[in-house]
Amino acid sequence: MAHDAKPRPATARRSPPLSGNARVPGDKSISHRSFMFGGLASGETRITGLLEGEDVMRTGAAMKAMGAHIEKKGDEWIIRGTGNGALLQPEGPLDFGNAGTGSRLTMGLVGTYDMETTFIGDASLSGRPMGRVLDPLRQMGVQVLSAAAGDRMPITLRGPKHAAPITYRVPMASAQVKSAVLLAGLNTPGITTVIEPVMTRDHTEKMLQGFGANLTVETDERGVRHIFIEGQGKLTGQTIAVPGDPSSAAFALVAALIVPGSDIVIENVLMNPTRTGLLLTLQEMGGRIDILNPRNEGGEDVADLRVRHSELKGVSVPPQRAPSMIDEYPVLAVAASFAEGETLMQGLEELRVKESDRLSAVAEGLKLNGVDCTEGHSTLAVRGVPGGKGLGGQAKDDMVQTHLDHRIAMSFLVMGLAAEKPVTIDDAAMIATSFPEFMGLMKGLGAGIE
Ligand code: S3P
Repeated sequence: MAHDAKPRPATARRSPPLSGNARVPGDKSISHRSFMFGGLASGETRITGLLEGEDVMRTGAAMKAMGAHIEKKGDEWIIRGTGNGALLQPEGPLDFGNAGTGSRLTMGLVGTYDMETTFIGDASLSGRPMGRVLDPLRQMGVQVLSAAAGDRMPITLRGPKHAAPITYRVPMASAQVKSAVLLAGLNTPGITTVIEPVMTRDHTEKMLQGFGANLTVETDERGVRHIFIEGQGKLTGQTIAVPGDPSSAAFALVAALIVPGSDIVIENVLMNPTRTGLLLTLQEMGGRIDILNPRNEGGEDVADLRVRHSELKGVSVPPQRAPSMIDEYPVLAVAASFAEGETLMQGLEELRVKESDRLSAVAEGLKLNGVDCTEGHSTLAVRGVPGGKGLGGQAKDDMVQTHLDHRIAMSFLVMGLAAEKPVTIDDAAMIATSFPEFMGLMKGLGAGIE
């Protein structure tokens, strides 16, 4: 697998105008959930547009190991699920590679089963905190039989005979934690309640309703969401068309904004409002982004995005916007490096526990490439250089450390397309976890990456 392989450095150089149409792969969040809910539901689930990145394939392998039938025929993935409550004990550990979403959601999904499951992952995943998921599971009666220091992987869980429904207020803005508790609620008698003070991506809620779960959402007068799920109900297989991932579209989008003369269209991008914070921010910065053909497909908003090179201006991004663009800050920081004035990003504490400590990984990479920036505890201020003069690798051997983080890798390759000097990253292998087509797609638009 990629994380065991020898590191593969890559270099991006100043490019001619980007042009043409592109389609990014399926949304990662929806793809994980499609495999999970399809693998659990009774009957057949058919999926098109699934992201076939390493992270999602790990989730598919885990569901297979617990009894789901999953196969690909032509362009379609066909799943026969076990039925809710009927997952089987896997014979070996479930290896989630680099995937936080796959592992945390699956801990919720199977943690309450009266069986043992062991979760392992790569060096990045093994360093990430899992207590945020284990704490509510413990309240439901799940035993953590073993875990590395600080509730980290490898982790072995054993569920109780009958899990207890809880009311859980999610202490940080995290769709993964919310989802883990809701999925644990699927196998728990009675009503499990999740209170979400700050709204995060709502794919779990929407998709579970689509699969027939008795799930309701009430928003109180303070805007706090109360999500109720009734356990042990029937889930029925669905037909799903996965829209393009806005978090992957972000790389082509920022590239077109910063490479002079560019004019591209990115087709079929998910426009769920819990995911569009980057678009809003780039538009506030003066980015010329036209939303074409807005439509609703399978319950999700999608659109095509026309993006043209733009003179960007620094802005202050409010902390409340963070959940709707949490994975996009690294590439926003790259856009900010080419904007006039300062861009201030706030409310970034969750970036410290992503595939890497993204806040310091971004700040280090920016500094290495000549960008003036200040890293705070949960903030990043970037002072840009319109035109990119002087930006790029300062010394011959400068290589951005990607820390096994796909989004750090792709963001800095995008930077190299508009910087005066080339930008080199230490390892492009992890890009395959979320966007295996990245290199081909970017080169197809005219990007100089090798
Ligand atoms: C995801 C939630 C987010 C995001 C991740 C995908 C999901 O993580 O960063 O890439 O699919 O639920 P957090 O819940 O940790 O914010």
